[in-house]
Amino acid sequence: MSPEEKPYRVGILTAGGDCPGINAAIRGVGKTAILEYGMEVIGISSGFLGLINQEYDILDENQLSGILTIGGTILGTSRENPFKKSASLLSIDKPKLIKKHYKEMGLDALVCIGGNGTMRTAAHLAEAGMNVIGIPKTIDNDVWGTDITFGFDSALSITTDAIDRLHTTANSHKRIMVIEVMGHHAGWLALYSGIAGGGDVVLLPEVKFNIDIVAKCLKKRAINKKPYSIVVVAEGIPCPKGESAGRFIARSIKDKTGLETRETILGYIQRGGDPSPMDRILATRFGAAAVELIAKRKFGLMVNLIGGKINSIPIDQVGGKLRTVGMDNSLIKKARKMGVCFGDCEP
Ligand code: F6P
Repeated sequence: MSPEEKPYRVGILTAGGDCPGINAAIRGVGKTAILEYGMEVIGISSGFLGLINQEYDILDENQLSGILTIGGTILGTSRENPFKKSASLLSIDKPKLIKKHYKEMGLDALVCIGGNGTMRTAAHLAEAGMNVIGIPKTIDNDVWGTDITFGFDSALSITTDAIDRLHTTANSHKRIMVIEVMGHHAGWLALYSGIAGGGDVVLLPEVKFNIDIVAKCLKKRAINKKPYSIVVVAEGIPCPKGESAGRFIARSIKDKTGLETRETILGYIQRGGDPSPMDRILATRFGAAAVELIAKRKFGLMVNLIGGKINSIPIDQVGGKLRTVGMDNSLIKKARKMGVCFGDCEP
């Protein structure tokens, strides 16, 4: 770069629900951009809100140090969707404002770290002429076009640890323990933690369950002198309005079996705290890959991991889709053979 040339300016924002590993991704983008390519890095506050309100700061190397191991996001996040139609006639044209601010901030590229909703917004921004790169993150692991998102591995550890702890208290009291885990409309976290935690019943949004089959399976376990049972429920299963999945399943089991049943709703604990080593590595690899694309002036892409390899796909292929658990999932097939009940047929 000649002295009169202005450094390439890369903006980073984090949007949607937070998850462990976001700071590792910010660091991966920032350090690669600064140290390898001599770029300038701008941290945009609170997702797309920061672009609307022009809230940002230059991120130097020092600000990127010491954040690898920390959960949450140093930039803050929001669920702001600038493309959502507002009912008010007085509403501002947010996409137009974002385009204007992108220019005023002197951005040459924008890295959007987020889940499905963020990728959809990022695709619209790319369509509007901005140089956008997406990095997929979420504990739900439901982003289309990548085998895995960072955040999932950390959440899986937390959820599995919680299930492990329920085993001992369930055994002491000879109870059925229902645990509701996050995942939005996808069952990845429930499936993986259900198997890792030795769940006896695992209920997923993707598998149509029958509560009578669940009750029959749990009664059979009691008759066979199994002292307790663990039921892992994804938050996204169909349940009556106003009642959480865990509460609904626990109430139904109690009514149908007469067995003592308790529920635990794990909630936001699942996405808080430090990232696992695997998430730190994945987030770092995604961050570095995003900057490599920017350095090659390749835009409108989301970095991904397919078959163990880091690559990228057009971001407009991602938005609006959901990666759910397939009925042909090999883990489901194996678990069924080992007696795990998914509520759709008797094991
Ligand atoms: O980040 C994904 C997720 O954790 C989902 O599993 C959950 O349904 C949702 O976010 C809830 O987040 P919030 O209350 O922040 O919208």
